[in-house]
Amino acid sequence: MTTGLPMPIARLREVSKVFDSSGAAVTALNQVSLDIAPARLTAVMGPSGSGKSTLMHVLAGLDRPTSGTVHLGERKITGLSDDELTALRRRRIGFVFQAFNLVPTLSVKENVRLPFELDDRKPNAEERAWISTIVGRLGLADRLKHRPNELSGGQQQRTAIARALATRPDILFADEPTGNLDARSGREVMSILTEAVAEFGQSIVLVTHDPIVAAHADRVIFIADGTPVTELNEGITAEAIAQVMLELDERADSVVNR
Ligand SMILES: Nc1ncnc2c1ncn2[C@@H]1O[C@H](COP(=O)(O)OP(=O)(O)OP(=O)(O)O)[C@@H](O)[C@H]1O
Ligand SMILES: [Mg+2]
Repeated sequence: MTTGLPMPIARLREVSKVFDSSGAAVTALNQVSLDIAPARLTAVMGPSGSGKSTLMHVLAGLDRPTSGTVHLGERKITGLSDDELTALRRRRIGFVFQAFNLVPTLSVKENVRLPFELDDRKPNAEERAWISTIVGRLGLADRLKHRPNELSGGQQQRTAIARALATRPDILFADEPTGNLDARSGREVMSILTEAVAEFGQSIVLVTHDPIVAAHADRVIFIADGTPVTELNEGITAEAIAQVMLELDERADSVVNR
């Protein structure tokens, strides 16, 4: 089928994720079908517990769906072995976690270069130049020798972002990448992410609670109770996003009070 649209960089079909620990089943994702366009910044918003992090983990092959299929580009990742998934994640996927997941015994420089190390190679000249650019832009140039416990929360978060961008992955997933940053650092992070999209076609999916952050996106997807409920594709401003969030809250309240 040719639709004239670019091939999605990521594709979910009828994906559900049920957590069934301690006997009480929680449906974190409920029959989600979604196409993520390449070279775009896609924002995902929704209340706490609506399934945003679970969605990112399933898209990135960090967690397996209970049912449904996930593709990254042409590759179907549901059904890959753990080893195949690990190799794919190293080479093709960047992830910034809600908790930054830096290696405490490594310096900033070593943490940022870790994806290369894990892939058993050294960054080439062009990659080293790119790494210095992002490290500089993220205000980490004078912190390269520090360990994570010698950094502020915001510096740790920026190190995690530098690490995720270092290999120029096919797709970058970022779970609240500005959640612990002051306004200025948050703007710097968003400007480097939007530049990565504009300048070399980086595909990014970003979770945020902040309408001002989401306003940088080309598309904003709103999820509630484990499923996308609405989205914005044009006229994306912080005000328009806040308005949709308000409407969703009112809808949720009227369901509760019914
Ligand atoms: N490992 C797990 N075991 C059991 N339940 C889980 C697990 N991970 C998530 N859940 C549940 O799945 C639902 C969705 O969680 P998720 O972390 O995706 O929410 P979220 O939208 O990212 O929320 P937040 O904005 O607070 O980060 C929640 O009800 C949560 O309690
Ligand atoms: Mg979350």
